[in-house]
Amino acid sequence: MRVRSCRDACREPQRLEPSMPGNDVPTAVREQYEELPYPLRDPRDEERRLIHTIGSNLVVVNHFCFKGRMDFRTGFRCLVAGGGTGDGLIYLAEQLRDFDAEIIYLDMSVASRRVAEERARVRGLSNITWVTGAIEDMQKLDLGEFDLIHCTGVLHHLESTENGLQDLAAALNEHGSMLLMLYGKYARRPVYDMQALLRAYLPEGIGRREKIEKVRQLIDCLPETNWFRRDLANWGHEISPGGNGDPGLYDLLLHACDQAFDVPGLYALAGSAGLHIQGFPVGSERYNPFSAIQDEAVREQFERMDLPMQQATAELLHCDISRHEFYVGRGTDSVASLDDEDNALLMFWKMYGKHRQLADAMLPGKVFTLQVDHHQIRINCSEILKHLFACMDGQIPLHEMYERVHQALPMASREAIRAELKGIYTVMHERGLLYLVMAGNLATGLPDYDRLNQVPGGDSAGVDPNTLKIDP
Ligand SMILES: C[S@@+](CC[C@H](N)C(=O)[O-])C[C@H]1O[C@@H](n2cnc3c(N)ncnc32)[C@H](O)[C@@H]1O
Repeated sequence: MRVRSCRDACREPQRLEPSMPGNDVPTAVREQYEELPYPLRDPRDEERRLIHTIGSNLVVVNHFCFKGRMDFRTGFRCLVAGGGTGDGLIYLAEQLRDFDAEIIYLDMSVASRRVAEERARVRGLSNITWVTGAIEDMQKLDLGEFDLIHCTGVLHHLESTENGLQDLAAALNEHGSMLLMLYGKYARRPVYDMQALLRAYLPEGIGRREKIEKVRQLIDCLPETNWFRRDLANWGHEISPGGNGDPGLYDLLLHACDQAFDVPGLYALAGSAGLHIQGFPVGSERYNPFSAIQDEAVREQFERMDLPMQQATAELLHCDISRHEFYVGRGTDSVASLDDEDNALLMFWKMYGKHRQLADAMLPGKVFTLQVDHHQIRINCSEILKHLFACMDGQIPLHEMYERVHQALPMASREAIRAELKGIYTVMHERGLLYLVMAGNLATGLPDYDRLNQVPGGDSAGVDPNTLKIDP
């Protein structure tokens, strides 16, 4: 066996050697997913839970991509590119189950497609068209144009992320949007250090299974000072047998092509395909420096920056964005706005359907803590807020909401009502708990979320009383 030199180990961190000698990167990537479909899923689990991802939820998609006005019932076309074992695909297909919508699954891995197909079969979903192929071949595949392209965890594994995005953009219709997920540069630093160590450590010419075994041996020996070991709480699920197991370990530490992005890199990438960033649906408070900084002088400094710069510095402030999930599209005005008073407000995620409970729990004059997952939101209760919360059902348009509050509290000026709403909207929306939707669209254009959320267990988004706490 050849002794490896320091030069071998010190190549660009993001581009690893193709995992089998003699293979080019696309072949190595395809072979990886044929042998180790990702994420690791057992189709039988579909009988007991539905995996629910925020960015693929149609309320959230509608808010960021279609101003809350999309009616998904007729002719909606969606491509899930690099659909893998089917998480985003299955969730979208479930939401669109009863509608005249078309969902196309595209992936170059036959083994991954088999898992996704079996999951769809277990669920009785028949609204998916299955295509085996590469994003780079989309033009030849002639799949038509789409309203939504879902492509998470894929483009950073292509030889050219830019070319891949352009291929996808060419298939987007005029008003269409994409959900992308790309790795985050700063939070993944310990991963890239570990990848560098493995490039130096692993002998050449061994197969995937042997590599995995050797990596597990090495992880067990990592000294306490090692960054990956220190950060293991963030990666444990990815590599543990109860999580993504061997496919997760290979994906994280041994991938043949793995590129990470910071916020300026995302803007540059979107711009290279003629697209605009429309929003970050997951953890958007981490793209906002003001969510972390209370000091007025420091806030003033951030106020001098434009939005992309604020987002870029917020990423560096927080340092914990390992995945950038974001929407891109051709339009700059796709996001639903409070200024459009035909919109209604809808409580979401673990707050879904809880607007009345929240209104009832409010004692005006008191400070009130809302705890949802790791978010703790302190709210100064007022009569205005109590009335506003009661109207956040996705049905009552904002203009009617303002009118109702004004009728109930004639002393409250319309400006004061709007200002209170804006404040609470900003805080709850950033934490993924409140969205705008065209009033009434929820009843006609979106599926029955109660039915979807009732599936217990797993990663399902049912309301868990242990993580939702309302403390008056
Ligand atoms: C990390 S998995 C992500 C799967 C899924 N999108 C998710 O978020 O769970 C990447 C998937 O992209 C597929 N893939 C990678 N490069 C591709 C390409 N150029 N064209 C089509 N599929 C590709 C792989 O086969 C694999 O199934």
